[in-house]
Amino acid sequence: MPNKVANNKDYPVIDKSDELYKKALDLIPSTTQTLAKGPQQNVRGIAPKYLVRGKGSHVWDVDGNEYIDFNMAIGPLSLGYAYPKVDEAIKKQLEDGITFSLMHPLEVEVAELINQVVPNAESIRYSKTGADVTSAAIRVARAYTGREKVLCCGYHGWHDWYISVTDRNKGIPKSINDLTFTINYNDIQSVKDSIDSDIAAIILEPFVFEPPKNNFLQELRKLCDENGILLIFDEMWTGFRIALGGAQEYFGVNADMATFSKAVANGMPLSILAGKKDIMKVLDEEVFFYTTFGGEALSLAAAKATINELRDKDVPKYLAKQGKKLKDGYNHLTDDLGMDYTNCIGYECRSLITFDPKAGNPLELKALFQQEMIKRGILWGGFHNMSYSHTDEDINYTLTVYRDVLQILKKAVDENNVKGYLKGEPVAPVFRKVSNFHTKPKQKTA
Ligand SMILES: Cc1ncc(COP(=O)(O)O)c(C=O)c1O
Repeated sequence: MPNKVANNKDYPVIDKSDELYKKALDLIPSTTQTLAKGPQQNVRGIAPKYLVRGKGSHVWDVDGNEYIDFNMAIGPLSLGYAYPKVDEAIKKQLEDGITFSLMHPLEVEVAELINQVVPNAESIRYSKTGADVTSAAIRVARAYTGREKVLCCGYHGWHDWYISVTDRNKGIPKSINDLTFTINYNDIQSVKDSIDSDIAAIILEPFVFEPPKNNFLQELRKLCDENGILLIFDEMWTGFRIALGGAQEYFGVNADMATFSKAVANGMPLSILAGKKDIMKVLDEEVFFYTTFGGEALSLAAAKATINELRDKDVPKYLAKQGKKLKDGYNHLTDDLGMDYTNCIGYECRSLITFDPKAGNPLELKALFQQEMIKRGILWGGFHNMSYSHTDEDINYTLTVYRDVLQILKKAVDENNVKGYLKGEPVAPVFRKVSNFHTKPKQKTA
């Protein structure tokens, strides 16, 4: 019998997952299309590798085991799996067609909606992936300013201008690498030190887990204005989640352009570049940004239904409310148990559980934790990516499981034997280094 969302007697049987994985090892380099969904992020030998069905906040793997999901497809499922209003909109559109030989009215309808709900979305373009629109944003910024260099902070996708600065940059010309530099979040001095007359744009995730301090975002806005630099918010994670209008609305800071994907279409592939009209107008003639599936109608139908539902149900408020129960609940448990080496941090809509190296190798601690969560029917990667389908029942159950799993972790740490409790191979680090790498050499002052 497959495992359920319950205190199962044993770890799930994952034979079918493993059979598929064996074939993938032979056929598909790296086996995964999305690093964060790949087997390296999950404790190997224990965690399922392939999911086949989802409903609400629950998923079923290819072997039939059921879990509560806190990864939510790495962000897109703001409403939840198989959400009726969105699925109905997709099915209705499917009857008429997926993609057409001319433009589709939904391109205009969705643009009108985004224009209403996202600050500064005076002009709107669509594409399919986050990388598409962060690439487009940088190209627009370079065209508009006549400058070439980019300062960035966060993760921005697989394209050359960003990946060139990471340590997985094989295949990218060195000359590209000389045009992008990182800044450190909440370190306005690191930004000031990096500015020169050739900086076209500062692009950043408005926050990841750490909140902005000392008006960091407002200070960035000021610096950009003073130096003729465009400010771009990469709102792939924050958009339609921290507030309907994303971080611009939440923090009251205006960006020149903002990029979105993930939460906007509840799982359908759609990304958005939005920005001020006078800047975006370079897309009329000078800048080339066109792609076959950019106006694909199923995703636009999904986006229309999703944005309406996010607005009508005030979903960002619900995500914060449910997320707070988990975040506070976890931190109360660790306080009770005297485990100061693990914490839940971040904003309520998307929080992260951390493990301090003082208690042992964080990747091993995380793997043991994950292994025991999976045994109890929770698919868990250390994040709470909240959705409108995470019910009180899901949260209460998860907190009960946290109590049990924290006690197992505590015992393993106290005995200095985390490895001894591990049944599978530890997880690999997340590819997401966001500070203190490839920063720009400090400008010499005259
Ligand atoms: C902040 C941010 N920007 C850009 C991207 C790239 O998006 P995609 O993977 O859809 O290309 C991601 C992906 O996770 C992201 O988190």
